[in-house]
Amino acid sequence: MPDEVVRLAAPAPGETVVDGTFGAGGHARLLAPHLAPGGTYVGVDRDATAEPRFEAFAREVAPLATRFVRAPFPDAFAQLAEDGVSADAVILDVGVSSMQLDEVERGFSYAHDAPLDMRMDQSAGEPASELLARLDEGELARTFRELGEERHAGRIARAIVRTRDADPFTRSGQLVDVILAALPPAVRFAPGGHPARRVFQALRIAVNDELGMLDRGLDAALELLVPGGRLVVMSFHSLEDRIVKRRFEAWLGHCTCPPGLPVCVCGAVTVAEPVVRGLSRPTEAEVATNPRAASTRLRAVRRVEPPRPVNGGVR
Ligand SMILES: C[S@@+](CC[C@H](N)C(=O)[O-])C[C@H]1O[C@@H](n2cnc3c(N)ncnc32)[C@H](O)[C@@H]1O
Repeated sequence: MPDEVVRLAAPAPGETVVDGTFGAGGHARLLAPHLAPGGTYVGVDRDATAEPRFEAFAREVAPLATRFVRAPFPDAFAQLAEDGVSADAVILDVGVSSMQLDEVERGFSYAHDAPLDMRMDQSAGEPASELLARLDEGELARTFRELGEERHAGRIARAIVRTRDADPFTRSGQLVDVILAALPPAVRFAPGGHPARRVFQALRIAVNDELGMLDRGLDAALELLVPGGRLVVMSFHSLEDRIVKRRFEAWLGHCTCPPGLPVCVCGAVTVAEPVVRGLSRPTEAEVATNPRAASTRLRAVRRVEPPRPVNGGVR
């Protein structure tokens, strides 16, 4: 949905865009030309491999001012705010990139045997192999159920715990074998996606604390925006989208006055207003050219400063 991202972020000459998930710079290359002359593009990514890609992007868009921050986006936004940076638009395109999925050695994929790592930032945190060794059976089952919507979470967790003492998990192929063996044959051979995909998704989300990052990152993004600044968030998972939807609804404000009052007296305020109503989804043509786009959910709000009474104070 690249055109939609540009439309909602509405970059203009001289403005500053903060891209919390630079990745390969696909969105950056669409947004940056709108900032010239005089604008600034700030790229953030926790993955070390994004930095050389950002340097190449910075050379392409010179003389536009650019800056890269390698950090989780909640921390990067806080750092930028501390440095006195404010943004006219912040964009977040959360989750793992196609490139990370395709880099076999990162261990994100169930389709290839590789070290079971799955960290977006390989210099920090706990790889998937350590998480699988540390969590107890109940915690593993809950992770697979809640983050992967895996119906056989209990069976798979039990099989992992039974196997890991004798044979600690170090490789993705080993995990795929244990998942397949734990599933009933009807599920193992059912048409549709790979039977291990839900557990792999759950592990990746847990290893990278993706939901916690989003939860903290949204508040930090709002803080970074100038009055009238836009926040555009793309997510791929219903759990992520629920976090975005709830936070945006809270920012729109809810009047809790008893019914019958002509004016609002509860003090509810609006700190953001919608740029687009609800959810924006990809077109059929976009899904046809990029099937991974099928589950994209796009939401956008504009910061309102100073906060104003909900509905202008009228009930
Ligand atoms: C879906 S890709 C973004 C693709 C990018 N918009 C583009 O057009 O190329 C997500 C990127 O964000 C990074 N990322 C995900 N979560 C992050 C977080 N909490 N903090 C910083 N970077 C993050 C990943 O490392 C990955 O490179």
